[in-house]
Amino acid sequence: MKDTLTIALSKGKLLEPALDLFKRVGLAPKDISPESRRLIFEHQASGTTLMIVRPSDVPTYVEYGVVDAGIVGADVLMEQPTDVYEPLDLGFGSCRLVVAAPKSEIQQDGRHATRLRVATKYPNVTERYFTQKGIPIEIIKLYGSVELAPLVGLSDRIVDLVSTGNTLRAHDLVVMDVIAESTARLIVNRASLKLKYRRMNGLIEALRSGLQGGRS
Ligand code: PRP
Repeated sequence: MKDTLTIALSKGKLLEPALDLFKRVGLAPKDISPESRRLIFEHQASGTTLMIVRPSDVPTYVEYGVVDAGIVGADVLMEQPTDVYEPLDLGFGSCRLVVAAPKSEIQQDGRHATRLRVATKYPNVTERYFTQKGIPIEIIKLYGSVELAPLVGLSDRIVDLVSTGNTLRAHDLVVMDVIAESTARLIVNRASLKLKYRRMNGLIEALRSGLQGGRS
């Protein structure tokens, strides 16, 4: 009997390019759209089930083996190191994880008598970065719209993702340093890789060839 594969895709900005790729290589129904409210799609022809989950939950689903594989940003993996296999950089969803501050603050040299307050959705990455620099900070954990924090006096800096740079510009924030580059990654459950080796290998090769414009 043919092995079936269950794959978690990240909701949000990575969903459309991921679905396009899966359709291109014949692992997803042609008629599914990122706007659909459905969270689970079966493609019987290829024996593939796709689940749409919150990006920060994808590594957990894969590590616990409730799905065989997942598509998630490298930024999420940096924030929550997970025991999974990471065989493929998919290249799309390219963005940078940066430290940014209000333009006015940079012009004043940005010196602080007290501990810097840094707002972010990435507290672990932020702590590692400032600890390595020997700069004491207070982390303000937020869940979205991080660019608002310096504007309303909640923080001195932010650590956030930048893609086009439009959100930073719209709020008069400037990049002070780039912590890391991020793209979408394929991650795979370690047991699934062994138990469903042929199917997993087929998936990795299909996605690789789909990225190069081919069809599996
Ligand atoms: C992300 C990120 C920035 C924005 C950057 O937020 O946190 O806010 O996109 O994109 P840009 O450089 O192209 O403007 P997202 O849209 O995921 O929403 P959130 O802030 O509510 O998490």
